Amino acid sequence: MPAGSDTLCPNNHRHWQGITPMKIGITGAEGRIGGFLRSGLDPKYKIKSFTLAPQAFESTVADVSDASSMPGKFEGLQAVIHLAGDPSPTGSWESMLRNNIIGTFNVLEEARRSGVKKVIFASTNHTQHGETMTDSPNELDMSKRVMLRLGDYFNPSSIYGASKATGEIYGRLFARKHGVQFVAMRIGAIGNDDTPLRAVGTPGENYVRAMYLSRRDLITAFTKALEIDREFTVAYAVSNNGRRIFDLRETNEVLGFYPQDDAETFFAGQK
Ligand SMILES: NC(=O)c1ccc[n+]([C@@H]2O[C@H](COP(=O)([O-])OP(=O)(O)OC[C@H]3O[C@@H](n4cnc5c(N)ncnc54)[C@H](O)[C@@H]3O)[C@@H](O)[C@H]2O)c1
Repeated sequence: MPAGSDTLCPNNHRHWQGITPMKIGITGAEGRIGGFLRSGLDPKYKIKSFTLAPQAFESTVADVSDASSMPGKFEGLQAVIHLAGDPSPTGSWESMLRNNIIGTFNVLEEARRSGVKKVIFASTNHTQHGETMTDSPNELDMSKRVMLRLGDYFNPSSIYGASKATGEIYGRLFARKHGVQFVAMRIGAIGNDDTPLRAVGTPGENYVRAMYLSRRDLITAFTKALEIDREFTVAYAVSNNGRRIFDLRETNEVLGFYPQDDAETFFAGQK
């Protein structure tokens, strides 16, 4: 049988490479990253999309901040990619509490209840920018020459960063206490277009040059997160940027994720 082909087993189930397709849920599936993952992940992953409101594509409506809307939603899923939340580094405490902290707890709780093996969490680079950013939400302080590591203690630059750090901590609790595997992806900067050049000449240019995440690297990183079999993992989801301030070696080794793209290749083409 050629690699990657589908077959029907005697029970009439479709199998991919001899393995039953993995059923995964994506919360926040209508968002930017959700759209990239829905179109970019290998079709061997059978995706159930969860959205805040009805969409033009097939989805299950669930407000993750409302615990009463969650029971039963994850039945039959093997993994959940949890993207739903407020992604704004300047978002309010009320929104962070509701959408990011309570929402993530509710997702973990429903994953535990329905026996989901793994939750992959959209964490953020902002969990570690306390010393590296100016007071602006997306401006790197270039007077600071740092190379941060995953093991450096949380140092959030905003209520947003702190809300995601909180999600990682709850993830660790559910992994250790309830056996729900947890992968925290500290995502860099990924916009609607697949280029860091949108930031040229803006105060955010240095930030984007360090934090750029290409669409191709996003797909690879989340595929690796789906494949890994490990109780608790934290990884960087950023491209292999020449101006990175995150040390990628542990992510390379533990997740097996070796990003291919580099923001600097775009800027080199500008000259
Ligand atoms: N885009 C980036 O560069 C980036 C960087 C780091 C982390 N992240 C994280 O990745 C995730 C996805 O980011 P994005 O850029 O696609 O943002 P996005 O705003 O496009 O998508 C988030 C989605 O979550 C949904 N949502 C919000 N609150 C919800 C709730 N209470 N219940 C259900 N759904 C809810 C929204 O409807 C939205 O579609 C976010 O959690 C964000 O914090 C993004």
